This record gives sequence, C-alpha cells and structure tokens, in this order.
Amino acid sequence: MIENKVAYITGGTKGIGFGIAGILLQNGISLAFSGRNKEDVEKAETQLKKFSENVLGLVSDVRSLESEQKAVEKITDKFGKLDFVIANAGLGIFKPVDELTSEEWNSMIETNLTGVFHTLKASVEELKKTEGYYITISSLAGANFFENGTGYNASKFGVVGFTQAAMIDLRKYNIKSTVVMPGSVATHFNGNEPSEKDNWKIQPEDMGNLILDILKMNPRVLPSKIEFRATKPKS
Ligand SMILES: NC(=O)c1ccc[n+]([C@@H]2O[C@H](COP(=O)([O-])OP(=O)(O)OC[C@H]3O[C@@H](n4cnc5c(N)ncnc54)[C@H](OP(=O)(O)O)[C@@H]3O)[C@@H](O)[C@H]2O)c1
Repeated sequence: MIENKVAYITGGTKGIGFGIAGILLQNGISLAFSGRNKEDVEKAETQLKKFSENVLGLVSDVRSLESEQKAVEKITDKFGKLDFVIANAGLGIFKPVDELTSEEWNSMIETNLTGVFHTLKASVEELKKTEGYYITISSLAGANFFENGTGYNASKFGVVGFTQAAMIDLRKYNIKSTVVMPGSVATHFNGNEPSEKDNWKIQPEDMGNLILDILKMNPRVLPSKIEFRATKPKS
C-alpha cells in the first residue's frame, strides 16, 4: 500500500524529478520536492498542484547538509513523517580531463555524490521510524566510462558504490535502498531543451512509473541496482 505515504524528491523542479513527482502525486502519495531556485520551485509547485494539493516545494541545495536538514524538518512539520526519499538532484559537465576546472569537478562531486549522502544523512532517522525507502538516481555513466566524462563518471560510479553499501547498512532497520541507472532521458540535462528529437529517449514519466513499481514491490524483495535504458537508442 503506497497511498498516504510521504515522499521527498531532490531536484524536482524539472526533468526526471518533476516526472517522478507527477506520477507519485497521481497515485496518492504526498510529496515534497526541492530545487535551488525559488521561482522554479514555486512554478513547479503550481504545476504539480493540478494532480493533488498534497505537495510542498522547498528551496534547498543538496551540497549543504544543513539545508537538507531544514528541508526534512519542513516535510515532517507539514506531513508528520517521511517514507520515501529519492536523491535525484544532479548535473553534468563534459570536457576533456585536461580542460576540466577544479570548480567544475567540485560542482559535480559535491552535487551528485556528496549530495546523495547529505540527503540520506538528513532523512535517515525519519526513514528508520517509517521503515522507508531510499532511492538514488545514478546513471548508466555509473558503470560505463566515456570520453569527456571524468567528473561525471567519477560521481556516478561513486553513487552506485555508495548506495549499495548503504543498502547493507540500512536493511537491518527494514529500510530498502535502490540505485537506478538510467540511460538518456528527455530532460533539461546539460543544456538540452526537450523536443520531438528526444522521442526515442526515456521520458520523465517513464522514470516516475519505474519508481512507482519499485515502491510497490513486496517488502520481502529488494531490487538493489537497476539499469534502465531506451529500447532503441539512437546510434
Ligand atoms: N537526463 C539524462 O539523460 C540522465 C541520465 C541518467 C541520469 N541522469 C541523472 O538524473 C538526475 C536528474 O537530472 P535531469 O536529467 O532531470 O536534469 P535536469 O532536467 O537538469 O534537472 C535537474 C534538477 O536538479 C536540480 N538541482 C541541480 N543541482 C541541485 C542542487 N545542488 N540542489 C538541489 N537541486 C539541484 C535542478 O534544479 P536547480 O538547478 O534549480 O537547482 C533540477 O530540478 C541527475 O542526477 C542526472 O545526473 C540524467
């Protein structure tokens, strides 16, 4: 039963996070989401309210543990508990390693890798109370390296290792953990403007339906690592 559960998605103002938010709200889950930009958070909250009033937009930056702690406090103040955490916020900068700046490297590691730790650290005591679920969004780039991918590959390989080790630590509290590794998704990632050219890609609502299926699984089973790809990739 997933109705009346409460979820938190980081990076929910657009793209994958926004797609997951819409599907979870349509299935009776109360939902908080975050982003760094206040106007984008307010806009997304208005759009998501067409599915349900049980939505809370939060300005929070996953690079800051304190910011994530305040976000979780606001969620439990409003909804009384927290069942599902989806650590999704992330970004990619693709350049040859000799051209990648230290600031660019740090922004990927701090957001994509340290961010998922901060989100878990801020929410783990609430997840213990609800015997909840912690899901991270890595990437196929967390298993396959490519040209210009050093910082992004390092961060996403890291998320895979982090989530699997956390899975072992957390299951003794009946908290499940899954790392999802999507291929190309039609989002604003890396400056993309979603359009018809992206029709072959995974769509944000496909990510939402995948997360919903994971959350609905019988408590006795745990899909700990999932590769999720477009059926017919563009060559
Ligand atoms: N699109 C793909 O093909 C693809 C494939 C595999 C994995 N992924 C992963 O999926 C996740 C979501 O990406 P997306 O494709 O949906 O990209 P997107 O359309 O650019 O959305 C990214 C979201 O993350 C938020 N965000 C970025 N930095 C943040 C921070 N420090 N704190 C809080 N929120 C932050 C953004 O809002 P603000 O910028 O306003 O904060 C936005 O809501 C990322 O982890 C990405 O690596 C994407």
